[in-house]
Amino acid sequence: MVGRASGLPGPLQSALERGMRAIEDASLLDRVNGPLAEAVRKVAEKQPRIADVLHGVPVGHPLHPAMVLVPVGTWTSAAVLDLVPRTGPAVPVLIATGVLSAGPAAAAGLVDWAELHPQQQRVGLVHAVSNTAGLALYTASLVARLRGHGATGRALSYAGFGAVMAGGFLGGHLSYRQAAGANHVEDVPHIVPPGWHDLCAIDDLPEGRPVRRLVGEAPVVAVRRGKAIDVLADKCSHLSGPLHEGRVHDVDGEACITCPWHGSTFRLDDGDVVAGPATAPQPSFDVRVDAGRVQVRLPGAG
Ligand code: FES
Repeated sequence: MVGRASGLPGPLQSALERGMRAIEDASLLDRVNGPLAEAVRKVAEKQPRIADVLHGVPVGHPLHPAMVLVPVGTWTSAAVLDLVPRTGPAVPVLIATGVLSAGPAAAAGLVDWAELHPQQQRVGLVHAVSNTAGLALYTASLVARLRGHGATGRALSYAGFGAVMAGGFLGGHLSYRQAAGANHVEDVPHIVPPGWHDLCAIDDLPEGRPVRRLVGEAPVVAVRRGKAIDVLADKCSHLSGPLHEGRVHDVDGEACITCPWHGSTFRLDDGDVVAGPATAPQPSFDVRVDAGRVQVRLPGAG
């Protein structure tokens, strides 16, 4: 008999799987998600630089996971200190720090969430509701403690801690199982063989229009502009959108390609992110032309 890899009792593991699948399939949640995501996207379109900072574009990594460390860390510390007698104002200070830092962390999560697939947004909504309940309980706990109701404050804190842990579990599912926020081109250097590869005849590349080609098993997008030829991985690093269906245009005088799914924009020259929601760059191939044939090589492949 084959053992369970998770180590969880079978019924618990099955219940968790069923529960998560039920949330992913709960299309009823789309009645909230659709208008809410559209409203968030409209605000983000008006403030694209702020939206990119919240996505984490300047640091090349999603910002939300780093920002949740403050509320989760302070509230976890408060939960431990609540077991210790006579800690003075330490616990209320920790809870207040968590409450104040929750807003920016939520804002970063919200702009990411608005650019996800429906199944991811459903899990994301329940994650947000759970964390909002945690925030409300911690706020109520703080008020109770400041009014001298320590026992009530502690009870509310532990209820909040439970809600935030449930939210964390859902966030883990969203990131690891559903790959929201993950780099969707991490595999490319592993599936492209090292060295130079024949791509196509130079005459097969239309002027200024992106086309899809294969390098081994890896799809790439090639763009020819006069004598310049740029080749990037075709799968968008955000959520695997097809870049060859995207738009080639100039941004601040540099040629870029914009993903048709959520508008991430990458510099053709080197694959760097010019605009989010993507935070990871596109793998960029070296290109040379030999006897009318375009050849490509991915630095670091293999
Ligand atoms: S898949 Fe989302 S921007 Fe490309």
